[in-house]
Amino acid sequence: MEVVILADADAVAAYVADAIVNVVGSRPMPVLGLATGSSPLGVYAELVRRHRAGMVSFHDVRAFLLDEYIGLPTGHPESYRAFIDAHFAGLVDIDAANVHVPGAGAAEEGVSGAAIADACVAYEADIRAAGGVDLQLLGIGADGHLGFNEPTSSLASRTRVKTLTEQTRRDNARFFAGIDEVPRHVVTQGIGTILDARHLVLIATGAAKAAPIARAVEGPLTSMCPASAIQLHPTATVVIDEAAAAHLTLADYYRTTFANKPAWQTP
Ligand code: F6R
Repeated sequence: MEVVILADADAVAAYVADAIVNVVGSRPMPVLGLATGSSPLGVYAELVRRHRAGMVSFHDVRAFLLDEYIGLPTGHPESYRAFIDAHFAGLVDIDAANVHVPGAGAAEEGVSGAAIADACVAYEADIRAAGGVDLQLLGIGADGHLGFNEPTSSLASRTRVKTLTEQTRRDNARFFAGIDEVPRHVVTQGIGTILDARHLVLIATGAAKAAPIARAVEGPLTSMCPASAIQLHPTATVVIDEAAAAHLTLADYYRTTFANKPAWQTP
């Protein structure tokens, strides 16, 4: 695992945007795994800026979101489909048909559990058919969740329905009129699904992420902190600001390693 500690959120956004632009420029049909929430917002803004400056095209990109709420009507502004359109996909030249959302079409209110289960299986097949994810962007929840894999999620899990913890519902209530409006159920890529991506890039900024980052990077591998599963991945990069690095025991080692990283060393 590589841990990159940068001065602030802007530096984190620029660094991760570089990694995404590299992947997009180096493959004929790049496949991106996209996260939602506030952590990747700076990255998306930077990618949109570079696209508008003519520096990158997303024309041939296929994108797969990590997760989606169940029960929000199509077009609901807090659905993750609407989120990704508003902050990234709708602002660049990616083909809307190539932006995939888990449970899409089946996760709306009133649809059967069987239809959602079928959509989860189809989502896994769609990722495989695209050739797998080249770069998977990730955030981390206060309780250590990865995607919406809450504590005690199987480390081998695949795309499926999960129930949000009350802490996650409280954390996400800031996007809704109140906690009562935050759905309890979601469809999320499983931890096994996420670990299949060729490169994981986990972003975190701010003091509130210091404890979960320390558990994910340096704590024991445990389903009580699903993000600790990145320790199993051969190519995982954790990109954080100083505030989110505050609880890391080996922070100086990570800084020295990064400062002395040879040009020939790939992630
Ligand atoms: C979102 C997702 C979640 C978020 C996490 C952090 O697609 O998968 O795991 O990354 O809840 O959310 P923010 O970035 O809003 O703190």
